[in-house]
Order: sequence, then structure tokens, then C-alpha cells
Amino acid sequence: MYRRIVILTGAGISAESGISTFRDQDGLWEKHHIEDVATPEGYAKDIQLVERFYNLRWQDLQRPEILPNAAHQALAKLELEFEGELLLITQNVDDLHERAGSLRMIHMHGELKKGRCPKSQQTFVLREPFGEDNCCTCCIPAMRLRPHIVWFGEMPFAMDRIHDALDECDLFIAIGTSGTVYPAAGFVDTANHHGAQTVEVNLMQPDPHSQFQYHFTGKAGEIMPKLVDTILNGNILGANKCKLAQA
Ligand code: OAD
Repeated sequence: MYRRIVILTGAGISAESGISTFRDQDGLWEKHHIEDVATPEGYAKDIQLVERFYNLRWQDLQRPEILPNAAHQALAKLELEFEGELLLITQNVDDLHERAGSLRMIHMHGELKKGRCPKSQQTFVLREPFGEDNCCTCCIPAMRLRPHIVWFGEMPFAMDRIHDALDECDLFIAIGTSGTVYPAAGFVDTANHHGAQTVEVNLMQPDPHSQFQYHFTGKAGEIMPKLVDTILNGNILGANKCKLAQA
């Protein structure tokens, strides 16, 4: 039976909800240059271009067909029913975990639905798209809100809390992430180092150099409900070679 679980999610968990990943075929980084839209330098160079990029993604997220899928729901159920400690960390900037019912979670790369005052760092839920008139209410003169997104070269949020949880967990599961962006890509090493079981859920077969001890290959929406039931039934994942509970 596990006592402390840390879950890391990436763009793959939202793929079945209709949100593009970054690095799969047709992913966001095939259509946009990272340095233009996801760096402080890109923002300084062309604010309007960066604002348009995040405004479009924010609008996209509000399309009625974009809904949490079975993987998001399974994690919300785990939070509700697991008797030990659970920390959900997402690299995603969408709000599908919250919409599924997850309450205790860290958006380590920020949130699409928020803007941030560049001076005080206070965050504001967006009522209108980014633009020169969308300003903070914390400063005089009011400052133009920037996207509440961690760009390349910036430090992700809540790293102390994340490292404390990784140091103590007995199970670490990474779902739908390519493991290419640090520091999140290094969480598996930290968890291994502290003796946790480490499990990866991904559509693709594992990389031969993968640091994860166990792999489940397939869609997160199909695997996660079974994986969560296996955990809630008090089973240890490696004990029966990862045979999952029947859905
Ligand atoms: P990536 O686009 O790099 O990787 C998505 C992963 O999800 C891939 O490994 C896919 O094989 C997997 N995948 C796709 N569909 C899936 C499904 N239905 N079920 C399970 N797995 C599936 O996205 P991330 O790893 O999240 O950072 O990217 C990490 C960070 O890079 C993002 O947070 C973002 C980006 O640049 C910032 O913007 C700071």
C-alpha cells in the first residue's frame, strides 16, 4: 500500500481532450518558434505576437468540446479516495485537472487563464484577452498584465514544495510527458534516488535509456482509470508485473 504519491502530468494527458501537445506530429512547436513566443526575449521583442499566441490558446481552451477526459477524472478520484498524501503536479497550462475536480495541485509552468503583474507578481484571472488595456489593479500606474506562463529561461513555480514531495514519495507516476524539459524531466531521478517506485504512462514505447522502473504504453484515458483503481485497491504496481485492475 502506498503512503505518498506524486503525479506529474504533461501535454499527453490533455491530447484526448483535443488540446495539441508540443512535440508530437503537428504539435505546437512545429507551428511556432519557441524563442518567439515562449521566452522573455521574444516578449520584449514583440509583445503583440506573444499576446496573440496566448489569447488564441486561451480562447481555444474555452471551446465547448474541450472537456476533461477519463485520465483527468481518474486523478480527481484518486485525490478524493486515496488515504495517504497525494501531490499532483502538472506542466500543463490548461485547466482540465481543475475542471475534473482536482483541488490540490501545482501548475509548475503557469496557467493560461491567468495574467500576472510584472512588478508585484500578483496573478489575476483573465476577464478579457491580453492587450494594452488589460492591466493590473495592484500598482499605480497600472501595469500591462503578462501571461502567467513560465517561459524558457524562467524558473518553474513551487520547486521547493515539489522537491520536498519527491524526496518523500513512495510512488512517482509521470503521465503523457516527453521528458525533454527540465527540471520536470529530472523528477524521475530524484524519486528513484529516494527509493520510490517510478512509473511512466505514455502513448509511445519507452526510450531504451528510460529511468522509469515500469511503463504502461497506451492512451492515458484508457490506462489511468485502471491504474487508479489498482492503487485504491491497495495493490503495489510492480508486484504482479503491473497487471492492472479490470475497469
Ligand atoms: P510534449 O509535447 O513534449 O510530450 C507529450 C507526450 O505525451 C509525448 O511523449 C507523447 O508520446 C505523449 N502522449 C501523446 N498523447 C498521449 C495520450 N493520449 N496518452 C498518453 N501519452 C500521450 O509535452 P510535455 O512533455 O508536456 O513548457 O512538454 C513539456 C513542456 O514543454 C511543456 O510544459 C511546455 C513545453 O515547451 C513550457 O511551455 C514551459
